[in-house]
Amino acid sequence: MKILGIVRKHSVAFFTGIVFAVVCFIGINTAMEPTSNSEFCGGQCHEMKAAYRSWELSPHGANKYGLRVECINCHLPPKDEFFRHIIAKAYDGGKDVFKHYFIGDYDIEKARTKVLEHFPNKRCMHCHKSLLTKSGSSAARKAHMEVLNPSDEYEFRCVECHEDVAHERENKLFSS
Ligand code: HEC
Ligand code: HEC
Ligand code: HEC
Repeated sequence: MKILGIVRKHSVAFFTGIVFAVVCFIGINTAMEPTSNSEFCGGQCHEMKAAYRSWELSPHGANKYGLRVECINCHLPPKDEFFRHIIAKAYDGGKDVFKHYFIGDYDIEKARTKVLEHFPNKRCMHCHKSLLTKSGSSAARKAHMEVLNPSDEYEFRCVECHEDVAHERENKLFSS
């Protein structure tokens, strides 16, 4: 077979390539682990303090089921889209570090608006798949019917109604 012939002829390069790919893969995953938890994302610089504290008080940071939804579950494409995930992670991380050292003043309201404008429904629905089959209130059913069957003119977005669901900024315990 032609392919086998090529592999045999270039076997050193071929196996070096495989070893290199495996090492890179392990390296990326090792570097991903400690930089992916919420303490790292929220605890490293003062700009993130408000986000971290308000998340801790929100139903995604703490709830009766003992489940925690980590920062990266919402702010990055899901991990099963591996390459999109690491590229977005590297880009966002780099941008945050750059802004921290070279831009200075951080405007929370501006950042909030930016996130709200771009937050994709798909990311919420990654976890909340069965919105209509849940025995929620009728108000929720009606609202979600409209979300899941959008009219041509307008598509509702989850965060328009659930703005504070991830960062509980109104809580009395919260002070930035
Ligand atoms: C359930 C999804 C979700 C989770 C989990 C989540 N966020 Fe957010 N985040 C949002 C949404 C939606 C907004 C915009 C609304 C707002 O800011 O209240 C936002 C806004 C932000 C902002 C911009 C406003 C600000 O406070 O500076 C930052 C930074 C941020 N999040 C960081 C984090 C960090 C750090 C964590 C983990 C400790 C986290 N987020 C967890 C969805 C999420
Ligand atoms: C990684 C999974 C995950 C993602 C992503 C996620 N959620 Fe959640 N969400 C949960 C879990 C877990 C709970 C807590 C258990 C529960 O109440 O069902 C929760 C709870 C909620 C609740 C109930 C809050 C309450 O007061 O009881 C709402 C509303 C909600 N999420 C909306 C959203 C919206 C809107 C987004 C996108 C901005 C989102 N979620 C993203 C997993 C997720
Ligand atoms: C037009 C407003 C509106 C939009 C848009 C919306 N919701 Fe809701 N949602 C509600 C209302 C109202 C409730 C009920 C609130 C309550 O009972 O406290 C609710 C409740 C929920 C709950 C709690 C469980 C339940 O079913 O009662 C979850 C989870 C949730 N929404 C997720 C989402 C997700 C994910 C999206 C985007 C795909 C979304 N919502 C878009 C209005 C909306």
